[in-house]
Amino acid sequence: MRIRIVTIFPELFGGFLTTSLVGRAREKGLLEITVHDLREWTQDRHRSVDDEPYGGGGGMVMTAPPWLAALADVRAEAPSTWRVLMSPQGARLDEKKVRELATRGDLTLLCGRYEGIDERVLVAGVDEEISIGDYVLSGGELAAMVVVEAVSRQIPGVVGLADSVEKDSFRSGLLDHPHYTRPPVVEGMAVPEVLLSGDHAAIERWRALAALRATWAKRPDLLATATLSREQQKELARLRSEASAREESSKSEETSGSPSETDGV
Ligand code: ADE
Repeated sequence: MRIRIVTIFPELFGGFLTTSLVGRAREKGLLEITVHDLREWTQDRHRSVDDEPYGGGGGMVMTAPPWLAALADVRAEAPSTWRVLMSPQGARLDEKKVRELATRGDLTLLCGRYEGIDERVLVAGVDEEISIGDYVLSGGELAAMVVVEAVSRQIPGVVGLADSVEKDSFRSGLLDHPHYTRPPVVEGMAVPEVLLSGDHAAIERWRALAALRATWAKRPDLLATATLSREQQKELARLRSEASAREESSKSEETSGSPSETDGV
């Protein structure tokens, strides 16, 4: 996998690119990443990359010429690279999008700053805008790091245990099951016994149901599209009827407990 990053703050990427999973993937030659300073494509003495917006208003806008020059050079070197602008206006990054980006093989991540980039850069030189969430960062650099790390995990050989990416949260459309390690009891809280049993089939069943319960409790919206086993479907039905029974009983408590008009004032 080849990734280029264009930014006005290349120094932000130093530690990130040499540490942990991404650092090891690069050492192993599974991932090639280069970081480019946008100012290398400026023409003026001050190496300026921004200007006041046409039409007035506050803030500064990144000018088109350095970006277009950078993109022309990138395209000359890698005609098929997929050019992604990190931007809060983009499509939201999720696991499906991460996998799609990983299959592209060659990515160029553009990190904007200030109020944004001259729209003509988007028209002429960007294949896709991606956002990492509905909040505004001061620039695309952290978002680009998120993309790099998530995409790296999809490259075969990058994540140590062959199956641990397969088991990542979201793969099956569900959240991950809870994890435990030594010691067996912490502040009176014991590890679920089945995990100590050595019965691998029982452990797998427990994990599948625990993943379902975690999703039900924390991200029920994911259940609309998740693929469930028969056992998980049964458990979901049980959770749903338990929840509606609870709702019913709290409703009836409300009506019987609420003060009527004739109650003493
Ligand atoms: N740049 C600024 N905010 C961003 C966001 N939420 N996602 C991606 N890039 C950004």
